[in-house]
Amino acid sequence: MRPSQVFTLLLCSGSAMGSPMPSPNTGLLVARGGKVVTAQAALEAIMPKSTSCDGQLPECRTAAQAAPFLIKAMENLSLGQIAAMLALIGLESEDMRYKHNISPGRPGQGTSNMMMADFTKEYAISKKLDVDGKDPNEILALVTPDEFNFGSAPWFFTQKCTKEVQDKLLGGTQEGWLAYMTCVGVDGNNESRMAYWTRAQQVFGLNGL
Ligand SMILES: *[C@@H]1O[C@H](CO)[C@@H](O)[C@H](O)[C@H]1NC(C)=O
Ligand SMILES: *[C@@H]1O[C@H](CO)[C@@H](O)[C@H](O)[C@H]1NC(C)=O
Repeated sequence: MRPSQVFTLLLCSGSAMGSPMPSPNTGLLVARGGKVVTAQAALEAIMPKSTSCDGQLPECRTAAQAAPFLIKAMENLSLGQIAAMLALIGLESEDMRYKHNISPGRPGQGTSNMMMADFTKEYAISKKLDVDGKDPNEILALVTPDEFNFGSAPWFFTQKCTKEVQDKLLGGTQEGWLAYMTCVGVDGNNESRMAYWTRAQQVFGLNGL
């Protein structure tokens, strides 16, 4: 089946349970080969630290908390594209512990994929949020509530990466991943990044893993 059908199935399973939004525990993801995982379990496998926010900043989110928002934001993406978004988010947010860059000197950088201030501003405007007269950190604060925080990677992907890159990533191949990371402006071959990507491919049974 086409990867994008996965989320159709998932959304149906959510509504079948009578909930308006798929819950992380009822949202089933079907990977290639028929392997079934919950969205929460998939997130925890890709981002091992997302099982708990104990001792973390209040902005930390667990896999259970983030799953419904990520599912909704990625409803139109293929499994390969979803895997890559999640790998990027994992590396950039340290398994969703942070919604802003904790290193000083990068005001306005944040959301789940740690976008630079120019992009958080553009993203805020795309969500019809009022950025007038606000400084970069104030603008970032507009897009860090969960409903926006977890939609930023798909926004960047669909708005800032070419159609060619988007299509390349459909099947979740290595070539697609590297093209996507080039679009983001980072090194897809970096060991830490690749570790996230490899886990994401494994969870969804992509690229023979
Ligand atoms: C998915 O596509 C539908 C139909 O085009 C659209 O209404 C919806 O907003 C899209 N979802 C996201 C998260 O972009
Ligand atoms: C890989 O990326 C991480 C995160 O951006 C960075 O801290 C690290 O220095 C990079 N490793 C190499 C070998 O460049």
